[in-house]
Amino acid sequence: MIRSTQYTLNARLYERLPRRTFLPFACLLLALTSVAAQSEQAHTKDISGTWVAKTQTPMGDLEIVYELKVQNGRITGTQRLPFGDAPIVASKFDGDRFELTIELESFGDTQKATAKGKIVGDTLEIAPAFPKPPEGAGGPGGAPPAMFSSSMVFHRGKPTPSNRAPAVDYNSLPKIQLPALHSVLYNGLAATPPMGWNSWNKFHTNITDRTIREIANAMASSGMRDAGYQYLIIDDGWQGQRDDSGRLQPNSNFPDMKALADYVHSKGLKLGIYSSPGPRTCGGFEGSYGQEEMDAKTWAAWGIDYLKYDWCSASRVWKDRQMQAVYQRMGDALRATGRQIVFALCQYGRANVGDWGASVGANSWRTTGDISDSWVSMSSIGFSQSSWAPFARPGHWNDPDMLEVGNGGMSTTEYRTHFTLWAILAAPLIAGNDLRNMSPEIMGILTKKEVIAVNQDKLGRAGERLSKNGDVEVWVRSLDAGAYAVAFFNRGLTPAPGSLRWTSLEIDHTPKVRDLWQHVDVPSSADGFTVSVPGHDVVLIRVSP
Ligand code: GLA
Repeated sequence: MIRSTQYTLNARLYERLPRRTFLPFACLLLALTSVAAQSEQAHTKDISGTWVAKTQTPMGDLEIVYELKVQNGRITGTQRLPFGDAPIVASKFDGDRFELTIELESFGDTQKATAKGKIVGDTLEIAPAFPKPPEGAGGPGGAPPAMFSSSMVFHRGKPTPSNRAPAVDYNSLPKIQLPALHSVLYNGLAATPPMGWNSWNKFHTNITDRTIREIANAMASSGMRDAGYQYLIIDDGWQGQRDDSGRLQPNSNFPDMKALADYVHSKGLKLGIYSSPGPRTCGGFEGSYGQEEMDAKTWAAWGIDYLKYDWCSASRVWKDRQMQAVYQRMGDALRATGRQIVFALCQYGRANVGDWGASVGANSWRTTGDISDSWVSMSSIGFSQSSWAPFARPGHWNDPDMLEVGNGGMSTTEYRTHFTLWAILAAPLIAGNDLRNMSPEIMGILTKKEVIAVNQDKLGRAGERLSKNGDVEVWVRSLDAGAYAVAFFNRGLTPAPGSLRWTSLEIDHTPKVRDLWQHVDVPSSADGFTVSVPGHDVVLIRVSP
């Protein structure tokens, strides 16, 4: 502001001056300006350098880094969060206080946020800038986790060496020619919604070969595998760098991916992996940009059976309208390997993915931002899925994100509701808790046979909301052989009744009514039946002709 006023003033004066007086005047002006700049700099303490803060979080040790450069009273540089690097695009500096405007990526959008800081002795106290999650979605952690909303103390230092890839210069990326659209042949997989386990919700990027092997053992021995959970999916954080031939290597936490896949297969399970069509994943690791064919071949050679492909930094390269062609590149690359690999899109339900997901060869597509382990996040995602129902069908599923069942942020009742809602939605059932250490109640929910049978029903229709009365929502899913699953959800805290009339299902006789959680037959009349639903709970009924 000060600068531009000064400039306008100078320009006006210049216009009024006769030519010959200009030179000495200009010299004077230059001198004055540089004095002004110097005194401005004198007020600006030099906090250039690398600043590091470490904190303990439920997802493990977390490191936040600022690379700062102070020049002419301006601060430039990078904020490094575990979810990726973000450039500082503007700054304010006033005495010991400063503000950094940071450009952040969040679920395909670029947004600006401010980190506020203060110089305190030879440390900086900064409250980092954090991306806002999209409406109705959790975002990483729902709302910014508490650790980001308050100031942290930063010391000058070196960041811990990490497996994350170096920052990308998005202006000098090699250009990729996007293909014309065509239909990628269906791979024949996921005739019913995929079931498995994924590392993200519990471990984030703190994963190793050992963790994955232990989870494989637990999946096989706990009864999860026998209940239908088949895919063990390694999410973000396994990647290392590319070798000289461009082949993507795992990082030092995963010494031998082929051996790991062999081990997982020996347990009667299948192995999944994670990447991004952008140059970097959401966690700042190497992505598959421009290397789709090579990466697909590498994964096939390792014995990978499932790919979660997450948009992340692709939003810095492409527009949403190019998304289909971008995903088609990987769909083609996976088909070309000849290996049967489930293709799971993760692009937060953008760009009408229900219309084209199947044509890029996808078996599922995310419909929302990230879930977090809370009733608010789970219920706002789960109960807003009704309009996606028409897109689900055998081989191709809506994915409202993975399960949080057993992660500790909800009650057992709320987890039962979460699991039932995902079953009704025909959503992939991808557990996300620590299977090595699971209470019998949580195990009981995740392996509930009759509820899983609803999720895996071979007709492959997703459920929809039939009615909403106060806090009670009735959802119905058509099942094979003329049956229905009917779920009465109570979103309130006090018990409430829910009822169903046969006419609303166009049933003209009195069918069999079974409560799938309680394992009892429910009395009904010629008109229908009524149940009572405790707060945040669910009653799940199977209506059979
Ligand atoms: C995004 C996805 C998550 C997870 C992380 C990994 O946030 O939506 O499910 O894969 O990236 O960085």
